[in-house]
Amino acid sequence: MITRSDRMKLVHSDIRGPLYEEALRMQAAGEKVLKLNTGNPGSFGFELPDSVRFALSRHIDEAVPYCDMRGMPSARDVICTYHIGRGLQGIKPGDIFVCNGVSEAASMAMTALVCTGDEILMPSPCYSLWSNNAYICAGKPVFYRCDPQNNWNPDPADIAAKVTERTKAILIINPNNPTGAVYSRETLLAIADIARKNHLVLLADEIYDRLVMDGLRHDSVAALAPDVPCITFNGLSKSHIICGFRCGWMVFSGPKDELKDIKDAVTQLASMRLCGNALTQLVIPAALADSESTQAMLVPGGRLFEQRKATLEVLEKIEGVSFVPNRAAFYLFPRIDGQMYDFEDGHDFAMRFLHEKHVLVIPGGGFDWNEDIRVRIVMLPEARVLSGAMEMLRDFLRQHRR
Ligand SMILES: Cc1ncc(COP(=O)(O)O)c(C=O)c1O
Repeated sequence: MITRSDRMKLVHSDIRGPLYEEALRMQAAGEKVLKLNTGNPGSFGFELPDSVRFALSRHIDEAVPYCDMRGMPSARDVICTYHIGRGLQGIKPGDIFVCNGVSEAASMAMTALVCTGDEILMPSPCYSLWSNNAYICAGKPVFYRCDPQNNWNPDPADIAAKVTERTKAILIINPNNPTGAVYSRETLLAIADIARKNHLVLLADEIYDRLVMDGLRHDSVAALAPDVPCITFNGLSKSHIICGFRCGWMVFSGPKDELKDIKDAVTQLASMRLCGNALTQLVIPAALADSESTQAMLVPGGRLFEQRKATLEVLEKIEGVSFVPNRAAFYLFPRIDGQMYDFEDGHDFAMRFLHEKHVLVIPGGGFDWNEDIRVRIVMLPEARVLSGAMEMLRDFLRQHRR
């Protein structure tokens, strides 16, 4: 057999991994499975906003040729204005690269940034896109702890303790997947200070910044640390229900000279793939002008608000389950008491839940969290479906009491 690249050996994509394959096998065998593994609103009946639909049909001819490798000027202009509005200083459209989703932007940024053996500080739990890219670039993710006792904020002392001479960057995912946390300004300032003192790049994945609930404020770390080199990532997959369009971007900010070489390398990578999907770039101006359709999901009566409420109402009554309510996005990362219930680990829990109750959830290990038994619940189905799934969880746990 021809073996895969050694850079692939540690890559793990559990969200679409063995548990998912097992769910597909069960479905093919005629069983009904509720798949709560991906944050893909369009697959749960969330509708495309009219703003996006009209923009696409009105401008479609403009997407016929390849566009600029960095993205269409009309898209980069509005992205620039958006991030200036979020407090980023000194940025220009030339600091922006429009990509096929944050996924491609992350891959390009990491490829440009990471030398063999470089360490990137990443949150635990972590959305695995980032750790996987570190492995693929022959770098090393070094995980810092986010603290459930402190609303899942990262622990700056842990971050500082893990800086070595090989550390190149600190990744912040805020709002976070899988915890749904929104970080405090104090925490962000402390992390920025570590970057400043150790000459590190800040990588800020803020794809959920428009999906914040409860009147909370989201701070862009690049706005809080204008003197620190920073690459901020954002996109429309979630806020405008267009995961399948593949629409994301990155913004370079901070001292211009510091990131020049990385930006030039990203330009080369962008030119290698000619351009991002031009169809999706057409909708960026209309989507960024339309905050109402996103907001409507987050307030009482809106789907994301009501689905969270329905989930938490059942979950909080289950003995041996504890959680920090999410303040953004649509993920919850509850803990299952390993003393009370008879599971070996998160994977064992998830596989048995899938087999016995036909609900697919992804265990903590899929997010590089191995401290205790946790699973990520994606709160995207309608409220009554989520209530039903949580009731199944309650019954399932009753049957697995030690
Ligand atoms: C934190 C985070 N970053 C990036 C992505 C990927 O987004 P995109 O669809 O823009 O590639 C996701 C998708 O779930 C995510 O949760």
